[in-house]
Amino acid sequence: MDAGKGFKIKEVSERIEVPVSTIRYWQKEFAEFIRPQRTSGGQRRYSAADIGMFERIKEMVYGRKLSIGECRDILKFGATGRVPLEWRDKTVLVTGGTGSFGRHFCRYLLERHHPRVIRVFSRGELKQHEMRQEFGDRDDLRFFIGDVRDGDRLRRAMEGVDFVVHAAALKQVPACEYNPFEAVKTNIHGAQNVIDAAIDTGVKKVVALSTDKAVNPVNLYGATKLCSDKLFTQGNAYSGKKGTRFACVRYGNVIGSRGSVIPVFLKQRESGRLTVTDPRMTRFWITLDQAVELVIRAFHYMEGGEIFVPRIPSMRIMDLARAIGPDCEIEITGIRPGEKLHEALTGEDEGRNTVEYRGMYVIMPSHSWWKRDNYSDARKMPEDFVYTSDSNDQWLSVEELREIVFGGAAQGPPTAARAAFSA
Ligand SMILES: NC(=O)c1ccc[n+]([C@@H]2O[C@H](COP(=O)([O-])OP(=O)(O)OC[C@H]3O[C@@H](n4cnc5c(N)ncnc54)[C@H](OP(=O)(O)O)[C@@H]3O)[C@@H](O)[C@H]2O)c1
Repeated sequence: MDAGKGFKIKEVSERIEVPVSTIRYWQKEFAEFIRPQRTSGGQRRYSAADIGMFERIKEMVYGRKLSIGECRDILKFGATGRVPLEWRDKTVLVTGGTGSFGRHFCRYLLERHHPRVIRVFSRGELKQHEMRQEFGDRDDLRFFIGDVRDGDRLRRAMEGVDFVVHAAALKQVPACEYNPFEAVKTNIHGAQNVIDAAIDTGVKKVVALSTDKAVNPVNLYGATKLCSDKLFTQGNAYSGKKGTRFACVRYGNVIGSRGSVIPVFLKQRESGRLTVTDPRMTRFWITLDQAVELVIRAFHYMEGGEIFVPRIPSMRIMDLARAIGPDCEIEITGIRPGEKLHEALTGEDEGRNTVEYRGMYVIMPSHSWWKRDNYSDARKMPEDFVYTSDSNDQWLSVEELREIVFGGAAQGPPTAARAAFSA
């Protein structure tokens, strides 16, 4: 090692005793605080200051068990401004806990925040059986068979629960179009049942998962999720003295998940030909870890009625194609019905209620009769503000995309990365 030229990633890994894959992950998550030089060959070289920053991050993540979002807040703002949320004494119920998000959320929360118990609530016994096998028999994870269409069952499952994450949904666009009444029953009536049961049983906070498809919806799935969002933001009006609070988080396609473009490109590149529907297309880039972090931060900051949107980078679909198959021929197949050129996470009529706050955009409820003490230092966005993947100020380069896809830094530590890419 020549310290004058900086340290290689392997040397950093040895010095601070953290795996290379984790260093890569932290590099990406804390890019604004760690700025390595590049050699002429494009290799990163870290300075002593960068190593100091990695050590601080290690102490916060491993020592104090803080989430990545909390660490970022501390590095950026000096402190989170609030006492960190204590999960150890919390009972948490996750509707749709056996889904891609739910499983990852449970794993993340159990490993890092040690809640008293998590109750998984979903319909399918097979998925619950598989999850029980995957997680092992443990006292802090319980399984409830139930349907969000059944309010009585939800009430029973929520007895003694502090926090609810509502992730259960019918979410396949074609299935919702073909079975519209079913989509309404699960996504809209189910949302109402969750709100009613949470208030009746004295749950403290509920965070529901929204989607980019709820912004200017063009299909029934999006329309049902928009209605669900409205129920959760306005559901605060019903909670009265019980004090139950409801908020939403909103994000787009999770990279690497089933049906996303990465597994498709990885398969196609074996044939030397990648298909792209439209070369102008852009997308936000969010990982399962970031989605889980967003929910955890929403519980931390919410007053009730907000929609939390993460500030995340965008990518151009052509850059991703170049990153995965640099030597492949690219065939343009034409945009599909219902497909959008760019993703939007806030709508035109939401700009006037949006603030930028601690690495997120927060859409405030348009009725302002509940308190918003947490947002005193938030930055108000202009009235015409919209957050779309093509108007973003953060972009992933071809090189960064290649490193994320092939370098194991997609979801954080390698096990999480594998789980996400095989989901
Ligand atoms: N995946 C994405 O890219 C993405 C992006 C943005 C937002 N979201 C939102 O994130 C949430 C979770 O998505 P996901 O990707 O984890 O979905 P997923 O993998 O399809 O999981 C859905 C979960 O909901 C359960 N479920 C479905 N219908 C139910 C019902 N009627 N009652 C109780 N449980 C029910 C499913 O289990 P059973 O079938 O066994 O009941 C499963 O556990 C959804 O609300 C979705 O709209 C997802």
